[in-house]
Amino acid sequence: MTFPDDFIENVREQNDILDVVSSYVSVTKKGRNYMGLCPFHLEKTPSFCVYHSTNSFYCFGCGVGGDVITFVMLAEKLQYHDAVEFLANKVGIDMPKYRKNDNFLDKKTIFAINRLSAKFFFSCLMNCENRSALNYLLSRGLFKETIVHFGLGYSKSDGYSLVNFLKKSGFSDEKIEKANLGVKTKNNFLHDRFINRIMFPIIDVKGNVIGFGARSLDNKMPKYLNTAETIVFNKSENLFALNFAKNQEYFILTEGYMDAVSLYQLGFKSAIASLGTSLTLGQAKLISRYTNKIYVCYDSDTAGKSATERAVEILSKENLDVKIIEIKDAKDPDEFVKVNKEKSALKFKFLIKNSKSSIEFKISELEKKFDVNKIEEKVGFLKEVSKIISKIYDPVERDVYSSKICSKYGVLKSAFDLKIKKNLQKNSKMMFSDLKKNQKFARSGILCIEEFLISCIIKNNDLMVYFDDFSGKDFSDKITSELFIKIRALLASGKTVNFRSLSEGFNQKKIGEISRILNLNSDSDVPKSKFLKYISIFKQKKEINNFKLSENLEKNKILKFLDKLKNSKV
Ligand code: UTP
Ligand code: MN
Repeated sequence: MTFPDDFIENVREQNDILDVVSSYVSVTKKGRNYMGLCPFHLEKTPSFCVYHSTNSFYCFGCGVGGDVITFVMLAEKLQYHDAVEFLANKVGIDMPKYRKNDNFLDKKTIFAINRLSAKFFFSCLMNCENRSALNYLLSRGLFKETIVHFGLGYSKSDGYSLVNFLKKSGFSDEKIEKANLGVKTKNNFLHDRFINRIMFPIIDVKGNVIGFGARSLDNKMPKYLNTAETIVFNKSENLFALNFAKNQEYFILTEGYMDAVSLYQLGFKSAIASLGTSLTLGQAKLISRYTNKIYVCYDSDTAGKSATERAVEILSKENLDVKIIEIKDAKDPDEFVKVNKEKSALKFKFLIKNSKSSIEFKISELEKKFDVNKIEEKVGFLKEVSKIISKIYDPVERDVYSSKICSKYGVLKSAFDLKIKKNLQKNSKMMFSDLKKNQKFARSGILCIEEFLISCIIKNNDLMVYFDDFSGKDFSDKITSELFIKIRALLASGKTVNFRSLSEGFNQKKIGEISRILNLNSDSDVPKSKFLKYISIFKQKKEINNFKLSENLEKNKILKFLDKLKNSKV
């Protein structure tokens, strides 16, 4: 859904970029503009520039730039829609009325129920006559401030307090059930879903309470009961404490809620936890929106180790720089904090410093699996190690690991290198066939042409007349095709085509792509001759494609077609 243009203009106008930026970094006047330290990368001399007159910013150091909305997207790590809402709320502009959208209204209701319930659980924890829940948390070493910070709570044991409270607050049985905070018995009686448990509210990056993790206080199984899937909660797409960690430079990923809470209390504000499932690709993607460095700090048992291996694989797929922190003398980070008492912060810092790269971790796990004192096992071990090392892309890095292994295990370097070389050949053969399969996705000349044409249309909408015979399908790439469709739709509905209208609804990565494409053509005027040349190539490509579609053409038609190709001036 797109916002009306005048609404966006209003939001931009009323949010002076200087005011907004100043609440994050201090800038000082330099000539006509304002300069300061860039909030988006580390720097010692200011290269972040605010252009007051155009209400925009640009960093000469890291190259980010945009308008006040882009700034908030980056500073608050928000998607476009949410950044707009953030700014609208800031200056008290009402959000446009949405078309009646039940799902949207439903979600709002569930968020409201969840938030109210979190408050209720919190007050039960703090004010209950029965202090056993609070005492439990205090006995686990949590400070009151930590409990308040995470908004931890308690669900009473009577089994109906929350439901009664929610009903009194005006929520229907149906909505309470939909939030998964109440469940119905066979005779249609609604009772609390969470009974006698410590409640951990799970909050998304926008600050919505989306669900709960609940730890049993009476050894009732399961130990942790989580909100089941609701319209706002999906445990494989969210992470506990990400709302607090989102602006940290790196994250520490743990397995348990208590691990994240304990580490936070110890001063490691970047701790997050998955929600009772093994890490998913969706969660890795979510993480990569906020940081590119992550420490995996799972339980020290064998289950934790194999979960670490899986997590490392998944995180690496998102190109994250993954390090592994190995907990010693404790089963999990929370216990580590407890057993090391006042030394735990220092010791944990040491663990971070000594964290392993994913390669080191994999090799050390292999070392445990083989008895290298036996010749045969040693050979098997080295074979496996060589496979791991062969996957390293950088030749120097590869050599560093190889040398280390050879000296540690008394292997001739030249022999080991030969093994690596063979693996590499095998890998590259495999990669080549993969590449062939994916050839149509490879960046090709035609893609550059498509991007150039799109950038021309954006600069000069009149050029769209040249594209009457084209549709989105004629573009070979997803982004150019999507942009073409969007441009046509915007123009058809009389809207302006600009960076903002085009970026709406796209994720951050695509917005980056759009801005790259937009800037391909740095001249303010589109060079007509280049445009015409490119469009003729593009037309030809379409003809060739159409031609392929009908292979059983008569011979003379084929010859005619080839003739035409030869004569066309490119
Ligand atoms: P653990 O069993 O390791 O518990 O589960 P823990 O985090 O150390 O908790 P404490 O210290 O005993 O209180 C790790 C995580 O797995 C999920 C929860 O998210 C938990 O934090 N889990 C565990 C469940 O979802 N259900 C369960 O029954 C158990
Ligand atoms: Mn624990």
